[in-house]
Amino acid sequence: MPVAVPAPTPQPGDAVGDGSAVATSVRPPAIDVDRLLGRLDALGRIGDTGDGGCCRLALSDADAAGRAHVGGLLRDLGLRVASDGLGNTVAVRPGREDGPPVLIGSHIDTVRTGGRYDGNLGVLAGVEVLTALEESGTTTRRPVGVAFFTNEEGARFAPDMMGSLVFVGGMDLDQARSVQGIDGPTVGQELDRLGLGGDAPVPFPAPRAFLELHIEQGPVLEGLGVQIGAVTGTQAISWQELVFHGVSNHAGTTPMAMRRDAAYAAAELTTFVRRLALELGGHQVGTVGSSDLYPNLVNVVAGRAACRVDLRNTDDDVLAEAEGRLVAFVAELCRAEGVTVAARTLARFDAVSFDPAVVDLVEATAVRCGYSCARLPSGAGHDAQMLARVCPAGMIFVPSSGGISHNPAEHTDPALLGAGADVLLHAVLDLAG
Ligand code: HGY
Ligand code: MN
Ligand code: MN
Repeated sequence: MPVAVPAPTPQPGDAVGDGSAVATSVRPPAIDVDRLLGRLDALGRIGDTGDGGCCRLALSDADAAGRAHVGGLLRDLGLRVASDGLGNTVAVRPGREDGPPVLIGSHIDTVRTGGRYDGNLGVLAGVEVLTALEESGTTTRRPVGVAFFTNEEGARFAPDMMGSLVFVGGMDLDQARSVQGIDGPTVGQELDRLGLGGDAPVPFPAPRAFLELHIEQGPVLEGLGVQIGAVTGTQAISWQELVFHGVSNHAGTTPMAMRRDAAYAAAELTTFVRRLALELGGHQVGTVGSSDLYPNLVNVVAGRAACRVDLRNTDDDVLAEAEGRLVAFVAELCRAEGVTVAARTLARFDAVSFDPAVVDLVEATAVRCGYSCARLPSGAGHDAQMLARVCPAGMIFVPSSGGISHNPAEHTDPALLGAGADVLLHAVLDLAG
């Protein structure tokens, strides 16, 4: 049975970030792991897919229900909950001094086959930190806030991290509202249908610092047998949609030499992306995660095939090389098969390095709290990479069992969830003085 991990008793004058006096407390704040687990379970039941996972695609009814649930937790702490025009939501607990908050954040939208921890952990651990501060009577020097950002996943509306990108001024609000989803409605139509837009400023005033606790979603920490990851940054991401146009024709009567088979082009693209990643090696990854055919009938040569390609690399230059090789391959493929292609970029973000002082703080805090820690880059995109544009930002990882994520089987050992929240609490205490 996990137990609340008591904070090391801070001594007045302890080095906390800038050497200011520690927060004043009736007793040291501590994470209640059982409460955190209970809240993760409750949020996971919203959009429950019945197989251990949950589906709360951005700006769906389930997403709106998840938002209302988390907003209620923040209001129960006596906090004012504000949203901006894209539905990015922030609640700030005052400190002794005014000024920009130390912000904890992540997302609560999920992919269609989502697990219970991706994003949810970071937001609910933030709620847990605020709860621990409140119940211990802790007053931090600086305000501490919790945020969840709209449409981090990008699975329904590209790009991913859309909300935090708008939050920091990297994408215009109206441009974001105009994005059409894979299922028809635009972001703006769904925001208005659900009544999720608010009047908080866009972009939001820069926080003093930003911390995100997240599951690793990969196999590295578990492979190392390490409890905490001090994340050095995020890799570059390239999402593009390629729509091949061929000629629908009879699958029985059309001679092979006459076929303009869009499905064949899509299949060749898919295998090329795999070969390309293996040839480039290193951190290069790639997949065609989404592909739909038209008319998608057994006896019709497909006239149209839409593919969405995800290429990533920690190295911007190698990713650019991968993109260039993809363009050349597709041009030759179209010539040879006699199809045409319409390509558009869905997302394109360079690699991001987190603030070295924040990475150092995460690592030092993990060690101080008695956990093993390793540094690693993130394979996934995260809201922290957008907040890094406007303030010192960093991330805390906890291991993913079997390296599985974006899958209902996503799991992290409860004690490790508690460890991550414990490190988050103490890093925030340091940053918030
Ligand atoms: O795609 C990603 O890396 C993240 O899950 N949005
Ligand atoms: Mn995530
Ligand atoms: Mn995700």
